[in-house]
Amino acid sequence: MKQNRLKQDAGVKAVDFIKSGMTIGLGTGSTVTYLVEELGKRVQSGQLDVDCVATSQRTFEQASNLGIKMHALSDVNQIDLTIDGADEIDLNFQGIKGGGAAQTYEKIVALNSQKNIWIVDESKMVDQLGAFPLPLEVVPFGWKQLFDRLHKENLNPHLRCDEKHQPILTDMNNYVIDLYLQKIMHPHLLANWLNQQTGIIEHGLFLDLVNTVIVGRLYGPEAIEN
Ligand code: A5P
Repeated sequence: MKQNRLKQDAGVKAVDFIKSGMTIGLGTGSTVTYLVEELGKRVQSGQLDVDCVATSQRTFEQASNLGIKMHALSDVNQIDLTIDGADEIDLNFQGIKGGGAAQTYEKIVALNSQKNIWIVDESKMVDQLGAFPLPLEVVPFGWKQLFDRLHKENLNPHLRCDEKHQPILTDMNNYVIDLYLQKIMHPHLLANWLNQQTGIIEHGLFLDLVNTVIVGRLYGPEAIEN
């Protein structure tokens, strides 16, 4: 599929930004799996020697299985570079993440990184955020009351469920509520409001965080500096 090819191109290109001796944050999602695959090849061939932390159990397992040295976040002193996917990136390099329900760990790792790179296929580049539903990781206790509050604020909340209609669980056993907003006019105002709501662990607005975006395009991957 064309989109997967573009994700792969972006993921493979990002490995060129990794140097031996670095501590790398590995994101989550289908684009990141291509990055990890390529990183694994270069580690196995002896071209790269790096230490890594992961933003999800899935990524941790994939990377460990490929022989990449993985650590707990609390065991590393600093993260030189984190490479992660994104669901939408606007013209001001603000992003939505969390389509894979990993935004809390992703934001903790991103905020503690010297540099952040996002890898996306070109469909993720948008004029304005909001067409992609904004994910919130929420504490199961009191989720319904929180849901009602979000509904009253016209934020169009939906509890994310699996095919058996059971709430999906994050790596921390929390629920995910997606806000179907269509357009986010003021990302910073919305982020500030969400930050104040008890019961929301983390939201998927990643603002003023990314340094470089690598976009998989039909004519080849393009790295854009913020
Ligand atoms: C995981 O929670 C997300 O933030 C992903 O990084 C994001 O959804 C991009 O995923 P894909 O690479 O699968 O499109």
